[in-house]
Amino acid sequence: MSPVVIAASTPTLSPALDAVRLTLHVLGASVWVGGQITVTGLLPTVRGFGGEAPKKVARALARLLWPAYALVVVTGFWNIAALDVSGAPSAWTVVLAVKVAVVAVAGVAVFLHQRATTRRGLAVWGSIGGTASVAALVLGVLLAG
Ligand code: HEM
Repeated sequence: MSPVVIAASTPTLSPALDAVRLTLHVLGASVWVGGQITVTGLLPTVRGFGGEAPKKVARALARLLWPAYALVVVTGFWNIAALDVSGAPSAWTVVLAVKVAVVAVAGVAVFLHQRATTRRGLAVWGSIGGTASVAALVLGVLLAG
């Protein structure tokens, strides 16, 4: 049996507009996903400050998260418009559809987490929001090919 040879593709620079589009998309994605992970990691320390500190930090995070979410959704549709989606293999289209659904779940879950009044609500919606956000990241890298 002849060995499988995977031809390495020659690296090329992205056209300028693609670079702007993907930079804005990845910037939005990194604030949305990275912001959640960072604040979750800082929370035990913030709790040590006592009083309203966790609530104040959560409110400050929300002021960063929602503009980032808006940016990643707008550039996400720009991504679709910039690509020849009609010629894409069905597996790519399925991943895109799953990704858009996962991004919607992430947004709703983070919204419900920010409005939760019980520790259980905070924990459940927070973990669904965080997991869906990381899943969107992985699906995005898959789509980028
Ligand atoms: C939390 C939300 C999201 C995250 C974390 C995210 C993350 C990513 C990442 C990391 C990439 C790879 C970029 C690269 O390697 O060049 C990507 C690509 C992509 N994303 Fe998103 N994304 C999100 C939302 C969306 C939405 C809402 C859409 C569609 C409406 C979308 C459509 C795409 C497409 C089509 C690509 C491929 C772009 C290309 O190859 O030119 N993304 N995404």
